[in-house]
Amino acid sequence: MNIMIVKNYKELSKTGADFIIKQLKHKPQSVLGLATGSSPLGMYQELIKAYQAHKVTFSQSRVFNLDEYIGIDYAQKESYHYYMLENLYQYIDIPKNRIHIPEIKDSYSEATKKFDKLLDLHPIDLQILGLGTNGHIGFNEPGTPFSSTTFITKLNWQTRKDNARFFNSINDVPTHAITMGIRNIMKAKRIVLIVYGANKKDALYNMIHGEITPDIPASILQLHSDLTIVADDAAAQSIK
Ligand code: GLP
Repeated sequence: MNIMIVKNYKELSKTGADFIIKQLKHKPQSVLGLATGSSPLGMYQELIKAYQAHKVTFSQSRVFNLDEYIGIDYAQKESYHYYMLENLYQYIDIPKNRIHIPEIKDSYSEATKKFDKLLDLHPIDLQILGLGTNGHIGFNEPGTPFSSTTFITKLNWQTRKDNARFFNSINDVPTHAITMGIRNIMKAKRIVLIVYGANKKDALYNMIHGEITPDIPASILQLHSDLTIVADDAAAQSIK
């Protein structure tokens, strides 16, 4: 694994964006896996700037998102559909029919099967990940088997507490979500994990130095053949 420690959020964002820009230059038809949360927000702003400056095009690419809440309307600002549209997709030239965000239309099993099928058809070249304070990736909570493919997950208390800042109160944070599984994530050819802030330092330490265990879902990334971790100074204080 390759670890890059950067000074601040600005550098973290630029570094993350550079990985995507280089990937698209090298292979314009790349399939990207994207994440939500506050860590990649600045990276998306850098991508929008690069697109506006004609330094990158998404016109031949395809994007997958990791996860989505269950039980909220996708037009609602807390949904990941809204987040992605608002923070990236509406500003770039990605064709609408090549945006894949997990979503429930009819049954849960239809939704998970459909997403897995799409992922099998379009293997991810570059997957961007964030890290939960409890070591989750996507919404793969501690205890999730490493063999998981797209599934419906129950969000644990820590995750709902962490994400309550985006909602009016913790009671409004959904209890369940649909997420790409760990096996889907590990299939990506290349993974870039973006880690920001002092509250991630323990999760990052455990992810890198801890035992590979479903209790720390991100620990499986130790086994990935092309993993880069980009962390800011505060998150990286425990691994220096
Ligand atoms: C959510 C998302 C994850 C993300 C995590 C960390 O739970 N499902 O994909 O990595 O939040 O988010 P943040 O970057 O806001 O700390």
